[in-house]
Amino acid sequence: MSEVTVIKLREMKKNQEKITMLTAYDYLMARILDECGVELILVGDSLGMVVLGYETTLPVNFEDVLYHTKAVARGAKRAMVIADMPFLTYQVTPEEALKNAGRYLKEGGAQGVKMEGGVEMAETIERVVKAGIPVMGHIGLTPQAVHQLGGFKVQGGDVEKGKKLLEDAKALDEAGVFSLVLECIPYPLAREITRTVSIPTIGIGAGPFCDGQVLVIQDLVGFSEKVPKFVKKYTSLNEEVRKAVGAYMREVKEGKFPSLENSYSMSEETLKAILG
Ligand code: KIV
Repeated sequence: MSEVTVIKLREMKKNQEKITMLTAYDYLMARILDECGVELILVGDSLGMVVLGYETTLPVNFEDVLYHTKAVARGAKRAMVIADMPFLTYQVTPEEALKNAGRYLKEGGAQGVKMEGGVEMAETIERVVKAGIPVMGHIGLTPQAVHQLGGFKVQGGDVEKGKKLLEDAKALDEAGVFSLVLECIPYPLAREITRTVSIPTIGIGAGPFCDGQVLVIQDLVGFSEKVPKFVKKYTSLNEEVRKAVGAYMREVKEGKFPSLENSYSMSEETLKAILG
């Protein structure tokens, strides 16, 4: 049982304590984030883009997320681990959604799942929640609908689309989601959604008034070269790794690495005996 629960998250919203969520896709990063104290670790389907090299999240399949969720769950002791349900693993029927969501908890070791979509997904989400599975909603820029949205763009900027987002948020709250990701939404609208719903909102490109924030870990640490405006790079690991690899290559080519300090010795006597 993780220390962070859906009850704790609701209390954090009530107490206006900000919630932190980051993505992780492997054991090592999950352990670091867990030890740093982030409340939520998302095994995002963004792994398709930042780990597997796809252009969108669409090719990610059920097994990809299951495999990475197992690794993350082994590294997270206190944070709540959320498995992101890939495209077509929950949209076809509510029964299939329930079965697949259940497997992420049962086999993957996650404590909850995330699904994209608004009003149209409410029935499916309700079915999964009623089976005892915590579901995180996700509205605004929903990357699995990138072709319908016409690209990775800010959502809800006009009256009609803004009203739809508010309706989506209310419908998901009623369907029982335990929290709601707001992606790429103008901050005044994200602030109103946050005030309206009973559950914590987690923003990404949705401004400072959400109950919590999420970023893709590769973006935050500066592994990703091109990042959207809403990302803040807190360090430049890309440069650091390139520097380290460059230094390693130089030293190997110049015969400076490994030195005898990095090597194992043996007595002359033993060596002589081996050589006969
Ligand atoms: O897949 C992902 O990483 C996400 C977050 C960016 C919210 O959905």
